[in-house]
Amino acid sequence: MNFRNVPARMGALAAVAAIAFSACTGGGASPSASAGASGATGTLPSPASSGNLEIFSYWTAGGEAQALAAVEKVFNEQYPNIKITNAVVAGGAGSNANAVLAQRMQANNPPDTFQIHGGAELLDNWVNTNYMQPLTQLYQQQGWMDKFPKQLIDLVSHNGAPYAVPLDVHRNGVLWYNKAIFTQNNLQPPTTWDQFFQVADQLKAKGITPLALGDKDQWESLQLFEDILLSTLGPADYRSIWTGGFSWTDPKVTQALQTMSKVIGYVNNDHATLTWDQADGLVMQGKAAMNIMGDWAKGYFEANGWKPNQDFGWAPAPGTTGDFIVVTDTFGMPKNIKDPGQTIAWLQTLGSVKAQEAFNPIKGSVCARLDCSPSVFDAYSQSSMQDFAKDQLVPSEANGPASIPAFLTPITTAIAQFVNDPNVQSTQSTIAAACKSSGACSQ
Ligand code: GAL
Repeated sequence: MNFRNVPARMGALAAVAAIAFSACTGGGASPSASAGASGATGTLPSPASSGNLEIFSYWTAGGEAQALAAVEKVFNEQYPNIKITNAVVAGGAGSNANAVLAQRMQANNPPDTFQIHGGAELLDNWVNTNYMQPLTQLYQQQGWMDKFPKQLIDLVSHNGAPYAVPLDVHRNGVLWYNKAIFTQNNLQPPTTWDQFFQVADQLKAKGITPLALGDKDQWESLQLFEDILLSTLGPADYRSIWTGGFSWTDPKVTQALQTMSKVIGYVNNDHATLTWDQADGLVMQGKAAMNIMGDWAKGYFEANGWKPNQDFGWAPAPGTTGDFIVVTDTFGMPKNIKDPGQTIAWLQTLGSVKAQEAFNPIKGSVCARLDCSPSVFDAYSQSSMQDFAKDQLVPSEANGPASIPAFLTPITTAIAQFVNDPNVQSTQSTIAAACKSSGACSQ
């Protein structure tokens, strides 16, 4: 297992991030005033055996919804008298949910537990700002410290205390393709952008949309850009760019934007009206040949009856072989919640082999735990497990973020505008300036 180069970004910029996040979500109360007592080793309640539990998530698409239902089933077998309410807010990557969550947290009305990406999204927004309960005692009781890769625990920890339970490891930046279209046209999945453009031209000549894109919620085009950025910069400079160690004014960024502008020339015209899963639907219907998406797309394909290696194939996004963009979904325990005992019961279940083996094969991810049985996974997930163990691991901005959260909105907006009006020079300057003004580039 190799997670060595994912930066565990802690503490120092929490204040900047909290202010910026509060400003962008319209939040009011100061975090520390509304968050209650702190302390890294608080005593946690025992798991409750009855009552209500409100979970908050954005898993509504094919695959996502079924995977969550599978975990709820495991939970309800163990806790038949706890009634789960799922306060779900649709919109991939938390594009709508995160603002609702921020309002609730700032209004001192937190859900009992919520879905959040490990890394800056959890730590800078909610842990360093004192909204979350440390879970050290739960980790100790369950013997979890060596059951998860240390690097994943780092992504949910502050000052040595874990604040959330990782449920999955997703791979972002996978090229998914319709096998029938590729076979009929005698095509191989492209491994470089040059090959991508050759394949795309052949598909276009046959009247097939080469690449499905659904960027209604904007994060999807940022995600495509981060894949192109990774392929252009390589993993070391890609890692550094989010924290100011590599300059956004570098000619390689110009090159990445130029490639992005060319790629956009091969996507479906209605991309701005579609969500990520609707774009994958185009691939399933044979209306488009490829989509570049995280491996929650595999969950979507299988939930809709497609089989790996038969109906759909996969490859790393062009130019990223050997790199693995890591996304981990986690759940934690806010302070001042209504049902702490039920939340502990939920988190205890979530961290178990049984729940992780039920959830991940359906979701498209692999277990966050190290001791799930590989035999519960299909060919795609087994390949993902192997790559996770040997590849260069890098963070995602669109599903993370890799930077401090304050940079996420300006870069998302800049790339969304770029898709409609691909002005390389002005977009590059806008992003470079936003990295500085957000504080992301001065870490
Ligand atoms: C990601 C999340 C995944 C999946 C995807 C689309 O950010 O980590 O679990 O849900 O968004 O919604």
